[in-house]
Formats: sequence, structure tokens, C-alpha cells
Amino acid sequence: MNKKNWVTYPERANCVSFKRRYELKKEIKSVSINITSMGWYNLYINNKRIDKDVFTPGYTEFEKRVQFQKYNITRHIKNSIDLVVDIAEGWGGGNRFAWGSAFIYFPISLNYEINIIYKDNSKEVLVSDESLDVTTNTVVDATIYQGESQDYRLEPRYLGKAKYIEIDSEIIPQEGERIVFGERFPAKKMWKAPNGDLLIDFGQNIAGMVEINIKGKAGDVIKYKPAEVLDKDGNFYDENYRSAASTYSFVLSGKKEILRPKFSFLGGRYIKLMEYPFYVKKENFTLVAVHSNMKKTCTFKCGNKKIQRLYLNSVYGQLSNYLDIPTDCPQRNERLGWTGDAQVFCSTGAIHYDVDRFFRKWIHDVILTQYEDGAVDEIIPIIAKNHRRVSSAWGDACAIVPYEIYRAYNDKKILLESLETIKKWVSFLLSNTSSPYIPHNVDPNGDWLATDRYLAPDAIIQRHEAELCPGSTNFDLVSTAYLAYDIRIIIEGYKLLKLDHQEYDDLLDKVIKAYQKEFIKDGHMIGPKALIYSKVGQTCYTQTGLVLSLYFHLCKEEDRPSLIKDLVDLIKECGNKMTTGFVGTPYILHTLVESGHEELAYTLLFQEEFPSWLYSVNKGATTMWEHYDSIKEDGSFWNPSMNSFNHYAYGAVFGWMFNHSVGVKIVKPGYKEILIKPLVDKRLGFVDCVFNTKYGDIKVNWKIIDKQVKYVIEVPKGIKATIDLGDNNIYRFASGGTLKKSVHYDK
Ligand code: BGC
Repeated sequence: MNKKNWVTYPERANCVSFKRRYELKKEIKSVSINITSMGWYNLYINNKRIDKDVFTPGYTEFEKRVQFQKYNITRHIKNSIDLVVDIAEGWGGGNRFAWGSAFIYFPISLNYEINIIYKDNSKEVLVSDESLDVTTNTVVDATIYQGESQDYRLEPRYLGKAKYIEIDSEIIPQEGERIVFGERFPAKKMWKAPNGDLLIDFGQNIAGMVEINIKGKAGDVIKYKPAEVLDKDGNFYDENYRSAASTYSFVLSGKKEILRPKFSFLGGRYIKLMEYPFYVKKENFTLVAVHSNMKKTCTFKCGNKKIQRLYLNSVYGQLSNYLDIPTDCPQRNERLGWTGDAQVFCSTGAIHYDVDRFFRKWIHDVILTQYEDGAVDEIIPIIAKNHRRVSSAWGDACAIVPYEIYRAYNDKKILLESLETIKKWVSFLLSNTSSPYIPHNVDPNGDWLATDRYLAPDAIIQRHEAELCPGSTNFDLVSTAYLAYDIRIIIEGYKLLKLDHQEYDDLLDKVIKAYQKEFIKDGHMIGPKALIYSKVGQTCYTQTGLVLSLYFHLCKEEDRPSLIKDLVDLIKECGNKMTTGFVGTPYILHTLVESGHEELAYTLLFQEEFPSWLYSVNKGATTMWEHYDSIKEDGSFWNPSMNSFNHYAYGAVFGWMFNHSVGVKIVKPGYKEILIKPLVDKRLGFVDCVFNTKYGDIKVNWKIIDKQVKYVIEVPKGIKATIDLGDNNIYRFASGGTLKKSVHYDK
């Protein structure tokens, strides 16, 4: 596509229609269109909506690149092409995007080329230019966070001709997955809340759009806004959306119609009807999920209802937040590509769904946005020109995400493409140290949202300040642990390329020695112990500090037993509860299993008191919460300045369940070789899991019956498997096979 064909209509920023009619002089053989925009577009040819996708052209680092889509439109055309493209701000064409000060945006702009092949084999190319007319349409206003208002009675008003605009970004073919409408949630209940508000419950918190199927009276209005939860009195609560007004209004035309936003989406489970005609009924309303088009690869069932719900919450957390890029949450004024959240969850994401293609596009944006000095931003695509904020465990996504994608899909290319970026990131970390080989971040998020740090009940959430969100774990410890992880990933890359990696082996050795010197003394983590909501300040002696030292193999082997004991004792001292935040949570159960404490790992999984995973399930969660106690014991809420009920990060616990409760672990990338070693626990009763790989389905089914565990395990041809059922036998399949076995069990 040609960069010269960008046109805009600068005087009116929000939602316009670009129009052009072309008369064709000859009979056509085929016609296709390549189209892209700054902002989100809907394409109509001869009155027919052509793009079935949502939020095209998708979300990339727009200053560098924007995707285009190609549609075959032959069947819609005879003698003429009547083209209408509606465009609203979306991700790339607005000035009301997210928070911050200097946003990166372009005015709403359009670029297309129509390729015609006539029956006589001659060709013609029609492109967007200044002959396009621009009008208003039925969308009065639409932005991601503020919502949308449509007036179906409006006639288009002529605004003028389109104007050329210079946009230098590369125009690339669709690289990521398309965005689609997913599961439909018909309204379950419509009722008057105690304060008189008319509410609707769709039963599931999700990113999506409300669809209203109705025949009303012309001029009647339906206006609503969403909420994720109700307050303790059963009333509507949306303070946690912060400045996202997320308000939708429709003026009816009088005809039977389906009212749905075109250029906005919401995150929520409930809506409050703010204006409505008397005849609306629950049957008119459906919440439709919107997410990237990923193939589901895992189904999981177990005999414990609460764990089953936790699994679903992890799945719906992903569906709500894999919307072309991995976002943090779908409701408040963020919905951004937070790198930390992405790396914490991505290996679990690659179990629930096929995310190879989804991440490939995002990783390319990570590579493209790396700063000159090697720093990687904490939000990608970057939202503001002067945003630059860099934190360990966030920036490290540049290494961890490609590595996990390589492991899950044997996608060597993505890891190798990332190698230079990872090396530059490592050099960046080493360029700012507090002592040799100990990186010192300027904007550390630390062990984000860990519960081992005191928080004043009315604290307004800010980062990097005493008594706030980043937990108690020493920031430099977190940075050094991730630095070691990054170096290991570089070594893996070098091995794939069969390159000499001595330099990085030596560096790793130095980093690990520095870590041991700085953070561990006489077999224990340095500093006072941090319990739940402790006031000890930054320390190394936290659950996360211990988990990183053990799981990342950073401690001396001789210190391992005492550190394991300290971790177990600390968990017990916290009442068999975890205090880990974003950093420690994905690894804590793995660390316990690797240390021989499977029982304690399950105790944490089944813990129901705060802080725990099941606490939110007991409080009715249908997605993962940002805080373990987003709703407190007494029904009050966490501070609305940061309280999302749809933050997928802690859903990473399903990664552990898949590896241990189901028992499937990758030995060679892409599941070419696996280990199956289920950890049976009677509280789960049974596990039935089907996981789809490119070789076919891996099936694991175990069930406790009396004093026996009955296993049925199937591995598809092409996968080498080692199976350990704890019966003192090791079963091996060279290339797939089925194993049925009963093993004595009396725990
Ligand atoms: C986001 C998080 C993110 C964090 C880091 C928050 O506002 O919602 O998920 O990782 O900031 O600072």
C-alpha cells in the first residue's frame, strides 16, 4: 500500500464517514480492497458491511507501523462501487486515549486501494484521495473509554472533501489475530436495586458490547453504563472505572433494530439503565464478548466446584484482556499493553488458547519500541511521547514472552528475532547498578500488589512510594533475579544458533554471585521477615524473595535446604497463606513442589481466607481480581483509585494446575517431548483435561475411587512422553500411546 494515499478530515476529530462512488465501465472479473486507517474503521461497499472484524486495523505502535486488511469484494459489485468508510478514534486516531499528557495519535485518517481485474484482464487501481466526500453519520460520539452515543434518526451532514495527510508509518499486512465477537451472554436478571436503579445482570464479567434487540418508538432513548460488581447493599458501583465514563446511549429510529456500539467496548457484568422506555425487557439485552480470535486449546474439568470456577476465571480473564494486545484490564481508563502483566500470564495464556500469532505481533512492537539505550517501556504500544517508564519484571517481558512462546510452540524465530533486544535490555540493566551486577531501576513496580506491605486503608494508589503498591520485596533483588533469567534466555538463544555463549555463562555466574552476596547471608534472606501487611519496609526476607532465590536457582546449593525451610515457615507463620504479588505468585506453588512440599502447595491452592485465590471465588468472582481482596471481608471495596475485577495476572495459577494437577510439563519445546506426572489430591476428586497440540490431543484423566487412583492417559503420535504415576514405575512412549492404570492411594 502507498503512504501517499492517506486522507483525513481534520476539522472534526470524532467519527466521520468517507464516501466515494466509482462507476465501472467494463465487466469485472475480481475486485479486492486493501484498507487501513488511523482510528477504527467499518467498511461498507454498495450498502453492505464488508469487514466482519472488530476494531480494525488493530493496535500496533502506530508511529512505526499500522496493519492493513484485505477483503475480496467481487460478489458485492456489478457496475459501480459505492464506498463508505466510517471511522472513529479507536486506538490510533484520537486525542482522548487513556491518561497521560502527550499522547501519540493521528487525526482520523484513511488509506485504501481497490484492485480491479476486468474480464478482459485489464487492471485498474482506485485509491483514497482528495475526491472523497466526508459526512457525519449516526454515531454522534465514540471513544474507547467514554463510550458511544448513536442517533438512528440522524441524516448525514456534508462536511467537505477529504484532505491528504502525511503519515510515515509502515503499512503492513495483518500480522496478529483478528478481533472477533465471541460468547454471548443473554441477560439473566433485570431488577430494581434498593436505591431504585434499574439493573441488568449478564452473569459474567467480560470485555464486550451490549446488544439491544428492540423495536421501539422513534426518538425514545436507551442509555446505560456498566459495572463489574454491586456494592454491599446491592446497588450499582462504578467508581473503580476512574475517569472512564463508559456511557452508551441510543436514540431509536422506530424500526426493529439491533443497537450495538460500533467504536467502543466496555468491561463489566452489569449495566445500569440510565434512560429507558417503559417497554424494555430483559430479553432485549445480550452482552457479547469481544477478543482476539484465538483457538481454544485446553478444556479442564475437576471434582471441586471452587477450583473449577477459578479455572474459568483464569480463562475469562484472558478472553477479556487478549484484545489484539495483552491488556491489564478492560474497564477503567487503562486497557493498555502493560508488559509485566503480559509476561506473568503468557505461559498460562498459551495453555488456554493458541496465542502464537497473537504474541508474534505484540513482540514485534516490543522490539520496535525499545529505546536507544536498551530500556523497554512498561506499556507497549507506548501511549505517550514522554511516557518512558521502565521497571524490572515489566521490561523483562522482552525476554520472557518470546521465550515462553518458543517453549509452547517451538517458535524459534520469535526468540531469535528478540535476541538483540534482550541483549540490549541486559546491557541497559547493567548500565545502572546499585553495586556491581545489581541493577537499580528508577521506576520499580517491585512485587506489584503483594500483600506483605502495610497499606493505609485510605491510601491513594501511587507507585514507588512508601506504604503503597509494590510490596515489601527489595526492588534490586527483583531486578537481579530477572536479570539472571534474561541471561539464561540469551544462552538458550545462543544454543539454538550454535554460538559460543561463554561470555553470557560468565556474566550469569557474576550476577548469581552478586545476588548471593547482596541478598542472602548465612543461608537466610537478608532483612526482617515480612508477614501480611507488615511495616518492615523493603526487605529480602519475603515469600517472593525466597521464591525467586529458589525457583530461579540463584542461591548456593548448600543454602537451599535452609531457604526452603524459611519459605515453608514463613507461609505457615502467615497462616498458610501467600503474600506474593505479581512477581512471586506465578512461581510460589512451583517452588513448593520442586522443594518437595506438594501438600503445602495444595493447601495454598485450597486456601479460602484472604489472601488466596479462592477468597475471590467465594465472593462471587467470575474473573480474576486485581487484588486478592478487591472486595474486603466486610463487603467494602479496595480503594477505587486502583481496583479492577478483571486483571488476569493471578490467573497464572492455572499454569501450575496444568503442570501439576493435570501433570503435563514441556520437556522439549512445542510439546515434542513431555513429562506427565499428576499430583493427585483428594480435594480435587478427579481431573479430566484435553490439551490440543500440533500433534493432536494430550488427554489426562485421573479419578480417585475408594483407595485407588484410576488413570487414563493418551498421548498423540509424534510426542515422546515419560509418565510417572508415583507407583515406582516409569512409563515411556517413544511416539504417543495410551496408558490405563490403577494405583493405590490412601492419603
Ligand atoms: C496496571 C497494572 C500494571 C501496573 C504497573 C497498573 O495501573 O493496571 O496491571 O502492571 O499499573 O505499574
